[in-house]
Amino acid sequence: MKTFTYSILSLFSAVTLLTSCGNNNNSSGGALNSSNAEKVYVAPGEKDEFYAFMSGGYSGNLTVYGLPSGRMFKEIPVFSQFPTSGYGYSEETKPMLETSHGFIPWDDSHHPDISQTNGELDGRWIFINGNNTPRIARISLTTFETVEIIEVPNSAGNHSSSFVTENTEYVVAGTRFSVPIPQRDMPIKDYKGNFKGSLSFISVDPESGHMDIKFQLMMPGFDYDLSHPGRDKSHGWFFFTTYNTEEANSLLEVNASQNDKDFIAAVNWKKIEEYVNNGGGTKVPANYAHNLYDESTHMATTTMKKEVLTVDPLKVPGAVFFLPTPKSPHGVDVDPSGEYIIGNGKLSADLTVHSFTKMLDAIENKKFDGEAYGIPILKFEDVLAGTVQSGGLGPLHTEFDGKGNGYTTFFISSEVVKWKLGTWEVVDRQPTYYSVGHIMIPGGNSRKPFGKYAVALNKITKDRYLPVGPEMEHSAQLYDITGEKMELIYDFPTHGEPHYAAGIPASILAPKSQKIYRLDENKHPYAVLTPDQARVERKGNEVHVYMSTIRSHFTPDNIEGVKVGDKVYFHITNHEQDFDVPHGFAMIGQNTSELLVMPGQTKTSVWEPKQVGVWPFYCTDFCSALHQEMQGYVRVSPASSTLELSWSLGED
Ligand code: CUA
Repeated sequence: MKTFTYSILSLFSAVTLLTSCGNNNNSSGGALNSSNAEKVYVAPGEKDEFYAFMSGGYSGNLTVYGLPSGRMFKEIPVFSQFPTSGYGYSEETKPMLETSHGFIPWDDSHHPDISQTNGELDGRWIFINGNNTPRIARISLTTFETVEIIEVPNSAGNHSSSFVTENTEYVVAGTRFSVPIPQRDMPIKDYKGNFKGSLSFISVDPESGHMDIKFQLMMPGFDYDLSHPGRDKSHGWFFFTTYNTEEANSLLEVNASQNDKDFIAAVNWKKIEEYVNNGGGTKVPANYAHNLYDESTHMATTTMKKEVLTVDPLKVPGAVFFLPTPKSPHGVDVDPSGEYIIGNGKLSADLTVHSFTKMLDAIENKKFDGEAYGIPILKFEDVLAGTVQSGGLGPLHTEFDGKGNGYTTFFISSEVVKWKLGTWEVVDRQPTYYSVGHIMIPGGNSRKPFGKYAVALNKITKDRYLPVGPEMEHSAQLYDITGEKMELIYDFPTHGEPHYAAGIPASILAPKSQKIYRLDENKHPYAVLTPDQARVERKGNEVHVYMSTIRSHFTPDNIEGVKVGDKVYFHITNHEQDFDVPHGFAMIGQNTSELLVMPGQTKTSVWEPKQVGVWPFYCTDFCSALHQEMQGYVRVSPASSTLELSWSLGED
């Protein structure tokens, strides 16, 4: 009886709760109200207005979402092996993950940035940095595939990366951790004064997009946290935040928080470029991988590079200055006009805004406040444009809407604060759930932002979704920023740990998205352009299977004469020329992933049979009604067998 009463009571309170919840939603105009629902509802068959590219963090990848729907369209493998497509498993893509440390199948991807022309998004490529084993990747925004990865030598914790200058002259990669340069065996306690921080300017060929390290600036041994390019009036400059200007090598949470101010390093890269073009700089030995994917051969190659050009900032007077910035600044962001450089001191409540015009004046009139390792420190008061007294805590990153407003995330107080450029007045603040890191407004890091939505990228999800064990996916929150007040209109989970993101109108990318690879342009050396070219060849213990696929069979599908100890290469050409009809390939006992071969493309999978028998392979993609029939067999004989190679399709 007792139990019964209790149940009735709890049922009653549950109903009460539900009712009051319902009332709340109706009266508060929260995220469930119908007009907000309409704002994010993309009806079946309709398309999103924006693409959002979210860094995958420790997934090593880049994910593509639609805005406002929050639907995930694709995960683009970048620094990590990806069995869904066979990236990093296929023979053609393995070279993409080569480094000076060997084959590295993983990284921590951080800050995507879309290529620009005249300071506006041009939608040709998107760049992203590998944080752990320093690398920069270029992804084609036609194929949505990673097409180039360059390793960054003399760098460690490649965090102040990968941001582009306003005509994509350079993609810039700054080291987070300073290290001995060149690397050598030395006591860690001798860090101070001996370690260096490299800031790498990687040139981007305007036609092909190919990357090359133009120069590395050898800076004092601070931590270089984030960076952003100057734009418009400040084009030609690049800004990097520093922390640990104390140069501590242990217990940084205490020892790197001693100085009241760290610096934003202002680098006049045009001046250094000129110096370098006139023969300046020192070539030093280095060892780093440059991996390039060729879209006509469908194949990546690795070139190990052996030297890099370094520049000592003291050799280029007038090129590098320090702007004092309070409290271990994290993000540094530049407004669309290029005038304001916003420093987000992560242990501070206020934002420090520097003026580019005042900075030039201070340089001109030598308003210095000492120097650090010979680099002039500008007087704080003489470069300060203003302070945003936000009332929040732990500012990290700022984006802009192109209508005179900045939007800054506050990690500790879990909110986005909107403020006015020039008056520094806070006009709105909205909570985030919870602990927001980056924020993204499409084009918000360019001269021309598309100020309709802001996406907050949160670090802690907790109670926002159904629980799935101890760890939740991270969470994005979408704000409508068209009005004076921001409005939270949607939550959606994101994969990995998104750091930065980059958004672009769908109208720029969608029309040029590639639908197939043309078979008549396929230059892969092992391609089979017509089914009658399909064959199997032996070269010693290597067996090369030249195979084609079309709905719904492999040519050939019966292979005999393979022996234990052979290395079998399946070179598979997909003969489809229709959009969205890949075929897959998987072989039993293969110690690699399946392949997913796009229409017109050739990919290679290796299998080393260990056991005698007749072993099947099959198509992994449900390509047609007869997908289940898309299969074949390889007969494996003992190593001593003298059975000749033979192959067939449709013969008994
Ligand atoms: Cu081809 Cu399933």
